[in-house]
Amino acid sequence: MAGVCALVAAAALVALVALLLRWRRADGDLTLLWAEWRGRRPENELPGKVVWVTGASSGIGEELAYQLARIGALLAISARREDELQRVKKKCLEISNLGDKDILVLPLDLTQRSSHEAATNSVLKHFGKIDVLINNGGRSQRSLFVDTNLDVFSAIMELNYLGTISLTKYVLNHMIQRRKGKIVTVSSVMGIMGAPLASGYCASKHALQGFFNSLRTELTDYPEISIINICPGPVQSKIIQNQLGEIAKQIPYGDQSHKMRTDRCVRLTLVSTANDLKEAWVSDNPYLAVCYLWQYAPTWAWWLMNKMGKRRIQNFKSGVVSVGPAPRSIPSLLTASLALGTAGL
Ligand SMILES: NC(=O)c1ccc[n+]([C@@H]2O[C@H](COP(=O)([O-])OP(=O)(O)OC[C@H]3O[C@@H](n4cnc5c(N)ncnc54)[C@H](OP(=O)(O)O)[C@@H]3O)[C@@H](O)[C@H]2O)c1
Repeated sequence: MAGVCALVAAAALVALVALLLRWRRADGDLTLLWAEWRGRRPENELPGKVVWVTGASSGIGEELAYQLARIGALLAISARREDELQRVKKKCLEISNLGDKDILVLPLDLTQRSSHEAATNSVLKHFGKIDVLINNGGRSQRSLFVDTNLDVFSAIMELNYLGTISLTKYVLNHMIQRRKGKIVTVSSVMGIMGAPLASGYCASKHALQGFFNSLRTELTDYPEISIINICPGPVQSKIIQNQLGEIAKQIPYGDQSHKMRTDRCVRLTLVSTANDLKEAWVSDNPYLAVCYLWQYAPTWAWWLMNKMGKRRIQNFKSGVVSVGPAPRSIPSLLTASLALGTAGL
C-alpha cells in the first residue's frame, strides 16, 4: 500500500513539474492551451461563416481578416479608414480562395452610434446572416490621470465601451432571432488588472468585461449564443501610435520585439472562438503570470504592481523607454518587464 501511495505521489509530482515547465513557456491560460491542443479547430468551425471584424484596418483586426480569409470565412471588415480596409481586402483576396463578393468593406466609426443599425443591416443585406461579430476596434491611452483632461476619458469610454456595446446590441438582436451566434470582444489583460498611465483604458476594458460577463448571464435561454472575451497582453500592432493622451505622442516607441506576435495572438483568438471559451488570456510571461497572481493572489499582485508602477511612472516622466541594467532577481525581472511592456496593453 505504501508503495502504491509513493508511486501516485511521484506521478503527481512529475505531472506538476511538467505543468510548471510548460507554463513557463505558455502564451495563454491553461484552458486556452488545452483547447488549442485537444479542442475544436478554427479550420473546421469557421469556413463559410459570416464574420464581422471591427478595427480591421490595422494590427490585430487586420491579421484577423487574413487568418479568417485563409480559413474560408466570409468577411465584413470595418474601421474608419476605407482606403486601409481596401488594402486589407486586396491582400485577403490574394492569400485566399475568397471572391470579391465574399469580403464586404464597410467603413464604420464606432463612436457614431446612430450609424450602427444601418451598418448591421448592410452586412445582413449582403450576406443574409452574421455568425460571428468580433468587437476589436479600440484605442489605448498613456497619461497620468492628474494630467489628463476628462475629455480623454470620455472619448475612450465612448469608443471602447459604448461603441462596442452599441454595435453588439444590433447584432445580438439578429443572433437572438436565429438563436445562434458568437460575440467575441477583444478586451485586454487591462480588463482584469489595473496599471499606471492607463486608468481610462483600464476602466473601458473593465467596463467591457463587466458588461459581457453580465450579458452572458442574460442569455441562458440561448445556449448557442456565445459571449467570448479575449484578454491579450502586449501584442505587436499600431496601438501605441494610435493611443489617446497628448503626452504619449512625445515618446518614441518603435521596438515591439518584446511583445507577442500579432499572428500568434490572432491564432489563439480564433481557437478561443472555435471553442466558445468564455474568457481567454492571450499573453506571454511575465504578463501571464501577473494575470494568475491578480486572480489567485491579489495581495502579491498589488505589491508587484506598486513596484512596477513606480518604475513605469519614472520612465514615463523622464521619457525613458529602456528599463536600464539587466534585472537580477525574478521580482525585479517582472517589475522591469512590466514597466516596459504594459505600455501598449
Ligand atoms: N496591441 C496590444 O498590445 C493590445 C493588447 C490588449 C488589447 N488590445 C486591443 O486590441 C484591439 C485592437 O488594437 P490593436 O492593438 O490592433 O491596435 P491598432 O493597430 O491601433 O488597431 C486599432 C483598430 O481600431 C480601429 N479604430 C480606432 N478608432 C476607431 C473608431 N472610432 N471607429 C472604428 N474603428 C476604430 C482602427 O482603425 P481606424 O483608425 O481606421 O478607424 C484600427 O483598425 C483594441 O481593442 C485594443 O484595445 C491590444
